[in-house]
Amino acid sequence: MTVTSKKLIEVALPLEAINEEGALRKRKAPSGYPTTLHKWWAQRPVAAARGVIFAQMVDDPSSYLDELRGDDKLRRKAERELKKRLNAREVVVAEFEQATRAGLTMSAPGPEPTLDDVLAEFERERLFKIIEDLILWENTTDESLLTKARGEIWQSWRRACARNADNSRAAELFNRHSLPPFHDVFAGSGALPLEAQRLGLEAHASDLNPVAVLINKAMIEIPPKFAGRPPVHPPEEGQTELPREWKGAHGLAEDVRSYGQWMRDEAEKRIGHLYPKVEITAEMVKERPDLKQYLGQRLTAIAWIWARTVKSPNPAFSHVDVPLASTFMLSSKAGKETYVQPVIEGDVYRFTVRVGKPKNSEAVKNGTKLARGANFKCLMSDSPIPSEHIYSEGKAGRMGTCLMAIVAEGERGRVYLSPTMAHTAIAESAIPSWKPELLMSENPRWFSPPMYGLASYSDIFTPRQLVALTTFSDLVSEAHERVKSDSVAAGMADDGLGLEAGGKEAQAYAEAVGVYLALAISRVADYGSSIATWRPKDSAMRSTMPKQAIQMSWDFAEGSPFGSSSSGILECATVVSKALKLLPCNSFGVASQQSARETTLAASRSAVVSTDPPYYDNIGYADLSDFYYVWLRRSLRNVFPSLFATLAVPKAEEFVATPYRHGGRDNAERFFMDGMTQAMANLVRQSHPEYPLTIYYAYKQSETEDESGTTSTGWETFLNAINRAGLAVSGTWPINTEGDNRQVGIGTNALASSIVLVCRPKSPHAKSIVRRDFVDALKSELPQALRLLQAGNIAPVDLAQAAIGPGMGVFSRYAQVLDAEGKALTIHDVLTLIIQTLDEVTAEQEGDFDADTRWALAWFEQAGFDEGEYGVAETLSKAKNTSVVGMVQAGIVASSRGKVRLLKPAELPDDWEPANDARLTAWEGLHHLIRVLESGGEGGAAELVRTLGSQAEVARELAYRLFTVCERRKRAAEALSYNALVQSWPEIMRLAQQSHAEDPEQGRLL
Ligand SMILES: C[S@@+](CC[C@H](N)C(=O)[O-])C[C@H]1O[C@@H](n2cnc3c(N)ncnc32)[C@H](O)[C@@H]1O
Repeated sequence: MTVTSKKLIEVALPLEAINEEGALRKRKAPSGYPTTLHKWWAQRPVAAARGVIFAQMVDDPSSYLDELRGDDKLRRKAERELKKRLNAREVVVAEFEQATRAGLTMSAPGPEPTLDDVLAEFERERLFKIIEDLILWENTTDESLLTKARGEIWQSWRRACARNADNSRAAELFNRHSLPPFHDVFAGSGALPLEAQRLGLEAHASDLNPVAVLINKAMIEIPPKFAGRPPVHPPEEGQTELPREWKGAHGLAEDVRSYGQWMRDEAEKRIGHLYPKVEITAEMVKERPDLKQYLGQRLTAIAWIWARTVKSPNPAFSHVDVPLASTFMLSSKAGKETYVQPVIEGDVYRFTVRVGKPKNSEAVKNGTKLARGANFKCLMSDSPIPSEHIYSEGKAGRMGTCLMAIVAEGERGRVYLSPTMAHTAIAESAIPSWKPELLMSENPRWFSPPMYGLASYSDIFTPRQLVALTTFSDLVSEAHERVKSDSVAAGMADDGLGLEAGGKEAQAYAEAVGVYLALAISRVADYGSSIATWRPKDSAMRSTMPKQAIQMSWDFAEGSPFGSSSSGILECATVVSKALKLLPCNSFGVASQQSARETTLAASRSAVVSTDPPYYDNIGYADLSDFYYVWLRRSLRNVFPSLFATLAVPKAEEFVATPYRHGGRDNAERFFMDGMTQAMANLVRQSHPEYPLTIYYAYKQSETEDESGTTSTGWETFLNAINRAGLAVSGTWPINTEGDNRQVGIGTNALASSIVLVCRPKSPHAKSIVRRDFVDALKSELPQALRLLQAGNIAPVDLAQAAIGPGMGVFSRYAQVLDAEGKALTIHDVLTLIIQTLDEVTAEQEGDFDADTRWALAWFEQAGFDEGEYGVAETLSKAKNTSVVGMVQAGIVASSRGKVRLLKPAELPDDWEPANDARLTAWEGLHHLIRVLESGGEGGAAELVRTLGSQAEVARELAYRLFTVCERRKRAAEALSYNALVQSWPEIMRLAQQSHAEDPEQGRLL
């Protein structure tokens, strides 16, 4: 038996700091952020990955108290603090005794603190400070901070080795000179292995999906191989001074940019004629005086805006291909409004571009669209075009395109120009020599183009886009040869390696550069398909998959690969190069293609495990990644023949519960559960005994209603798998992984947060417990867990399911929970009990609110904001120790003609001042906050928080409670408001605290 110690993550984690940083970066990824290397779904934020792995590897101070006691300075400081606390406690004890004697209720004082408690607390604070600095993106390359963090990991490791030094059987596991390797078996785009590598661990990443494996090679395997090498590309014209020292992957990154430029120039020679410039003629200026400054110039086109067309269903115009334009707006930026105006002449139409605010702005905004989905009107006759007509035209291959506008590069921003026949003709002249014939999966949840006859990947690119992507993919092999010969010329072959080894090195380097160029082509494809659209709001392109689906687009932006927009190859190579430059390169890394069902961890060594498995049926990684695979395969098949052996991404073994792949729901669930159980059991067998496993799980998947309320099939199946694999939950942390989730609605499948489950193998000595004792344990532990979740600002929409984690923590301490007949409860029963107890616990929290708020809560549960009988309201008010008249005065209720109703946020007075309110209630505070947030944004809400002081926090708690009520009562609109307030909370607090810099007294209250 090995002797293990508790790790920090099993006790504490600076959750708020991690969540705040994660959300910030998710809203907008900074330049060089790892997620910009390649598109993937459910990419974990750097802050979470880094913070969790660190906290999983360092000891909790409670396990090295001897050391802490031996630190004289720390001990003296702790003794002083302890004295203060004991004195303060004495006062509380006296108050408590007095209250008890007077027959009043007061919560009992907590246990007496000890010196060890204070020592451990101080030490945790020190470790928290390291984590809080470590997780910040701007500290990513701070070597002294990284060294400090790595030092802490090593120190904990040495303690572990010392503890196990006498155990000869554990000698292999505990080598004080070498840390155990790290392995993530569901690596995706590599966030976790990358951060493990940065923290000094040997990093292993595996995934079933070849695209994910390739990304991990680019992330952790390739950079360390070429760390510190200068670039091999000959200096470009005008490039005189090159740095003398090339740190990390800087040289490789520089080459990716240079060969990206080479690829761009070479492609332009071959296919540049397909991307004509636009000459600004006197005739154009006459019609558009704003173009005067460009008269005679040939502007570079960066995108062509097309609309798909179908024949008009109106018999009078059945010979006309009419546009399906979801908008005619090109730029909606204030002061820069530009739009497309259709001009109808007889039975033909043309488009012309106009600048300025359109008079009929609603009509322009809607284009020819009538309603959501495939519902348009005929431009010529205004007759509706029913979706059935569009389906059948599409399926018959009669869907066409027409050019609506051209976007060109101006001196200070975009210039929008009317389409020309010449530009249409040139686009139509492109003939691709190859196209990806692979069919999209027939799953309308993720792929809607096949419903309109666009069945294969080649159908969602224009011929010109196919020509460009084929040209670039072919150029990757040519770039190989170039890089190889440049490497030899730069002396790689004579680098003391000998000719043969040097030649191999040059070959490997050329392949490495090729990998990053191929990733850049993926990015070109992302912005260069006919699914990518134009965003009038910020005059930029939207990529193919902003959501985890390929959704039909009606009008689209065909970006030029030679322009400066997101679809430009040079732009894409530069983005990849910037991400590469910041990769750590400091320790060995390897990526392999394996199914988690039978992955051999870290070349058969026991490994530290942090992993992020697929979430039941939420994302179809294999299906979606085919979009990139077809192009990557074309570029890199010769370099990685086995990785790209199949025509499409392998799908059968993917742990995603898709009924269409497994022949129905039940089979899909069984497949997911069995696969996940085997994967988890595999991890338990091979993980290093010193470290707990950390497993991310994002909930809010398919849900099933039963008599006990709602449980999520995704959660249940996953927890079942964990339990069957013999894992016990020793901690749970809600991590905000999805950034700005105000959009995450009720009833959607979207994820707001993940739970990090901290797991250890279940103790072989775990005892059984009876149902009643289990419920008692839940009742005593869940309130604290709930408080912790709310303190971490968990989205209300996720609270109920997040609380399942701590509930499972209680459950997994026991071998099993037995019912009255001695039968073991199933996970489903256990979940039902946890949810029921949770309901009771949250209802009990209501006791903390003022009487008016408690009345309003009970009323809201029944009537929402609707009217109800005065008599009923009055009776309820007696029970809650308040009165309807009083609540009218308090400003939360309207009462007239025998009816009573709660005031909606929008009805509340906007000159409300909490300080002047003689009957301030939590209800009022919350609904005023919602009013201000919805009308004045986070800044306005922050101002109100300032004046509410400590009452603001009570209002936030109330938002959680009301969300639960709305969810139960299916009041989606109100629920969204409560969810949105909590989601905006960190930002509101940040703004409130910012302005408190001038008002420290208020700051203290917050
Ligand atoms: C939630 S994602 C991981 C995301 C990753 N943490 C990131 O930050 O990008 C889950 C991954 O599991 C992979 N996967 C699905 N089934 C698998 C299996 N049977 N074996 C290994 N990997 C699998 C998917 O390809 C996907 O990349």
